[in-house]
Amino acid sequence: FPVERIRNFSIIAHIDHGKSTLADRLLEITGAIVTTEKNKQVLDKLQVERERGITVKAQTASLFYTHKGHRYLLNLIDTPGHVDFSYEVSRSISACQGVLLIVDANQGIQAQTVANFYLAFEAGLTIIPVINKIDLKNADPERVEAQIEKVFDIPREECIRISAKLGTNVDRVLQEVVERVPAPTASKDDVFKALVFDSGFDHYRGVVANVAVFGGRVRKGDRIASAFLGKSYEVQELGLLRPHEQPTDGLYAGQVGYMVAGMKDVKEAQIGDTLYHQQHPVDALPGFKPAKAMVFAGMYPMDQSEYTGLRSAIDKLTLNDSSVTVQKDSSMALGAGWRLGFLGLLHMEVFNQRLEQEYNANVVVTAPTVPYKARLSSARLIKEHGSEEITIVNPAQFPERSVVSEYLEPMVVGTILTPDTFTGQIMSLCLNRRATQENMLYIDEHRVMMKYIFPLNEIVVDFYDLLKSLSSGYASFDYENAGYQAADLIKMDILLNGKSVEELTMIVHRQRAYSMGKAMCERLKGSIPRQMFEIAVQAAIGSKVIARETIKPFRKNVLAKCYGGDITRKLKLLKRQAEGKKKMRRIGNIDVPKDAFINVLKRT
Ligand code: GTP
Repeated sequence: FPVERIRNFSIIAHIDHGKSTLADRLLEITGAIVTTEKNKQVLDKLQVERERGITVKAQTASLFYTHKGHRYLLNLIDTPGHVDFSYEVSRSISACQGVLLIVDANQGIQAQTVANFYLAFEAGLTIIPVINKIDLKNADPERVEAQIEKVFDIPREECIRISAKLGTNVDRVLQEVVERVPAPTASKDDVFKALVFDSGFDHYRGVVANVAVFGGRVRKGDRIASAFLGKSYEVQELGLLRPHEQPTDGLYAGQVGYMVAGMKDVKEAQIGDTLYHQQHPVDALPGFKPAKAMVFAGMYPMDQSEYTGLRSAIDKLTLNDSSVTVQKDSSMALGAGWRLGFLGLLHMEVFNQRLEQEYNANVVVTAPTVPYKARLSSARLIKEHGSEEITIVNPAQFPERSVVSEYLEPMVVGTILTPDTFTGQIMSLCLNRRATQENMLYIDEHRVMMKYIFPLNEIVVDFYDLLKSLSSGYASFDYENAGYQAADLIKMDILLNGKSVEELTMIVHRQRAYSMGKAMCERLKGSIPRQMFEIAVQAAIGSKVIARETIKPFRKNVLAKCYGGDITRKLKLLKRQAEGKKKMRRIGNIDVPKDAFINVLKRT
């Protein structure tokens, strides 16, 4: 395929603005899939995606399209829409020359529209704004076009109005991709060079890498090597993604496809790595900025006998999602496990759900925490750590005030877009979360864009849910990292019957300690079931108890209620109790539900 007839593009949008629906339509009109009700949103392959209706993992499809008598190869790279997955967006973008920026004709520009726009803009890509859902009764494409002009400085004439649902104007989108997006600059005559931009693991074939060929060509049977590890492989299978794998004899400059090369170890296909012919080494392509984990949590098998199984499941999933960091960890109560780093809380929940659904793993996840830093004052400790500044990803390892000159917490710049009727409430929510306002801009008569600097830990767990509920779902939020700031932090312990439970230890701002301690105790009381004995739930700072709740014991045996001979009822009760137990983790002599560790942090 001549390079000048290739277009690599991706679709970016705020969640629910219709990216997957448009992708489906593009696949249909190019004949890659047959139209039926059943194959709606074929690009969203994972079970969690289908359940949650969000795209987690970028998927890729190659489409053939004829324009003015010429056949074109259009490579569509799907991207996820949620804040936590912007890493995947930047990854997809590096294999593209253009993007379709979708905006809902009713909702207008939202927080992730802004974030995604800047990712594409900074990468120097051609941006084609697409106003979707013009079939809706409340659609107001004129207003949205004015917003696009005001916020992104793109002339309104460049917007394409479509209905992805009905197919209106979708063909025009493909024409504009061909006409406006430049062809990749790769040449077939160069030496072979390809970028690994995604990879997955297949039980039978091992690692399946998604590659974008930046130069030359590669064929089945070629010997290739990777720049990162320098190991060499024989190409066993390669082809296009349409979106289902379609084997071909070779992949050529400008093409995007998949490759299987006998990589058995999950660590062999690094995302961002460069592949080349073994006998013609090349300079590595600029890879990706490694994603920075912003939320850390302990993960432990429900039972230590499941340790090995869980380890291999985590290994395989992290290949599929290289933005997760993994470190061995162990805890008194939960035994051997890992401390994992995620981009955000949803990212962590999705990872956990995938472990359970795709690998049948049974996991206890501890309270998430953000990466704090401390500047050490003790010369001995500085020597021991090899630096003055240390990062703390496990609250149990928080150094004492006496050896520290300063604690630091990670900050983010948050962008909120909202109808102006909610501005007041949102401002007080933000103040409550120790935020400071940077600026505020009306993007049209009724909608406001606000920027705030937040401590990350104040938004990581439940900020998004609260923002959504107080604005009846109308406000949207996205954030990016903004470095570290000094903060008055202290460690808060949670005690069950006088014993500190390391997994519930938290780092909090002094100003918030009392209210957090009280809320933690109340929520724990709500989530730990009654047991045979009384349980005292306490929050303490050092040796000082700042809050307490009591969980009363059972009055009588649960079965005592079932007098008479109703044996089936008795069995049912016992069964239900046993099922409940399975989801419990014993800490000391107390049964704690495995989701209590996360639920205690959610302020609803
Ligand atoms: P994520 O993958 O979660 O980011 O969402 P998305 O952007 O892929 O959105 P999706 O395609 O799942 O569409 C979201 C909702 O909008 C679905 O219920 C679609 O049926 C609906 N939708 C998409 N396009 C249109 C359209 O043109 N008109 C109308 N009326 N509804 C649409």
